[in-house]
Amino acid sequence: MVGVGRYDVVLCDYVINEGLIKDIRNRVEVVRCDVSNPYDVYEIFKKYRPDAVVHLAALLSANAETNPHIGFRVNFEGSWNVYEAARIFDTKTIVYPSSIAAYGAGLEGKEVVDEEIYTLPKTLYGVSKQFNEMLGMWYYWRYGVNFIALRLASVIGPGRKDGGASAYTTLIIQKAAQGEPYEIPVEEDVRIPIVYIKDVTDLIIHILENPSKAKSRIYNVQGPYPSPTARELADTVKSIVPSAQLMFKPNPTITNIVKTWPRDLSMDRIKNELGWAPKYGDLKALIQDFINEVRKHPDIFTI
Ligand SMILES: NC(=O)c1ccc[n+]([C@@H]2O[C@H](COP(=O)([O-])OP(=O)(O)OC[C@H]3O[C@@H](n4cnc5c(N)ncnc54)[C@H](O)[C@@H]3O)[C@@H](O)[C@H]2O)c1
Repeated sequence: MVGVGRYDVVLCDYVINEGLIKDIRNRVEVVRCDVSNPYDVYEIFKKYRPDAVVHLAALLSANAETNPHIGFRVNFEGSWNVYEAARIFDTKTIVYPSSIAAYGAGLEGKEVVDEEIYTLPKTLYGVSKQFNEMLGMWYYWRYGVNFIALRLASVIGPGRKDGGASAYTTLIIQKAAQGEPYEIPVEEDVRIPIVYIKDVTDLIIHILENPSKAKSRIYNVQGPYPSPTARELADTVKSIVPSAQLMFKPNPTITNIVKTWPRDLSMDRIKNELGWAPKYGDLKALIQDFINEVRKHPDIFTI
């Protein structure tokens, strides 16, 4: 088996995007798998017997809303298959990327939300995030699986496509770094939390290396605080790339989805319990670093 750092990693996906994994291709085992097919999932767990699983496979918000049947099979049944395989094959830890979409409506007047607030997601994607949190907690209560859900802000990083309503937070920066025009699909004052992919991976490794630190099952994860409006994102990008061609062209479907999400996430729990804080809490530093990465790896950022 091949390894990344101290870990032997098996990367499973329905579509293997060779371009995206180019830099790690020789250090990970790559297996094609459909999470909605339990036999695919069980075969992999049986063969590799992982100590931990980071369950990322999903249809993102806009795609799940457009294709609800596939969204249900992948986002609901797929998670059941992964959690069940983890139980059967004695996988100790499941890390699940939940989302700000799990919060949904009912937060009017609340600027900062914590993990205990009542949530009422209004998209199929959001409902699946809430369901998968609860299902994972059931595996924790019933079988003692160390389940941890991370309610991630919109992630700035590679591979973002239009299938996620929050992809604009990445594409505003990426397209400017690539010298391409970009139409921002939300209103200027829309404000959603963001986090840098480098912080997300750092956090997942932190959890895998400290599996017993978590006292709770759900943690909010946000980078810069308070979260920027779309206008502030665009202006900060332009302060670094003055030639950036960014135009606002709000798309009602996307605007309606993102407006059901909270504006800021309380980070008290993750700081106090896991002793973790983002390294990229400064918006300009995050954007500058991401621009450098996009320019350094043009073959990875092909969207
Ligand atoms: N990107 C974000 O801002 C963000 C924020 C919060 C949570 N998340 C969650 O993080 C995870 C990864 O998101 P991402 O942004 O990398 O999205 P992505 O679309 O790039 O990744 C999802 C992956 O799931 C795979 N997939 C889809 N159907 C599958 C199936 N049936 N079997 C196996 N694999 C399948 C896709 O091929 C894709 O590689 C998702 O669960 C997403 O909900 C993402």
